[in-house]
Amino acid sequence: MMRVVAQVKKESDWDWANPAIQDIFKNKAESQLYKIFTNVMVGTVTSIVKRFKIGTLIEVGTGPGKVTASLCEEMSKNNIKIPVIISDRAPGIMNIRDQLQQSFPTLTFKAFIWDIREIPPDELVAHITAPVLLFERFCLPMQAMMLST
Ligand SMILES: C[S@@+](CC[C@H](N)C(=O)[O-])C[C@H]1O[C@@H](n2cnc3c(N)ncnc32)[C@H](O)[C@@H]1O
Repeated sequence: MMRVVAQVKKESDWDWANPAIQDIFKNKAESQLYKIFTNVMVGTVTSIVKRFKIGTLIEVGTGPGKVTASLCEEMSKNNIKIPVIISDRAPGIMNIRDQLQQSFPTLTFKAFIWDIREIPPDELVAHITAPVLLFERFCLPMQAMMLST
């Protein structure tokens, strides 16, 4: 593990498709701090969809789908069935979609490879029902960090 960590620097191209980096993030995401951020995100999204009519939920930078799974648990508990679109620039997003669909068979999932620095793929846009609630955790700061280097 140390060798991989030693090779990744602030200037490195942070390849989220790299399984070693995904493992590091998965471990970090087990921490209390990440769980607090997950609860805040899930609580915020759930309270909005309970109060306002939302046509589609879109997540950018879904990664391993931990936040998504927590949100889907809360949606299932509250019988919320809004279609969920997950996306990431890393191709592993399709596997995450399959895992979520298996865990939450009553919900509807679509997955797209989308680098949020580009306009969204037409196929994603074709699956949108307005109004849209888009959410993300720890993806946009990546853009700021990359822009600042
Ligand atoms: C730190 S992980 C966060 C994963 C998940 N949102 C969470 O909070 O557990 C950042 C994720 O953002 C994705 N990402 C980074 N830059 C992106 C971009 N420009 N467009 C889409 N996804 C991006 C990475 O591939 C990675 O899966």
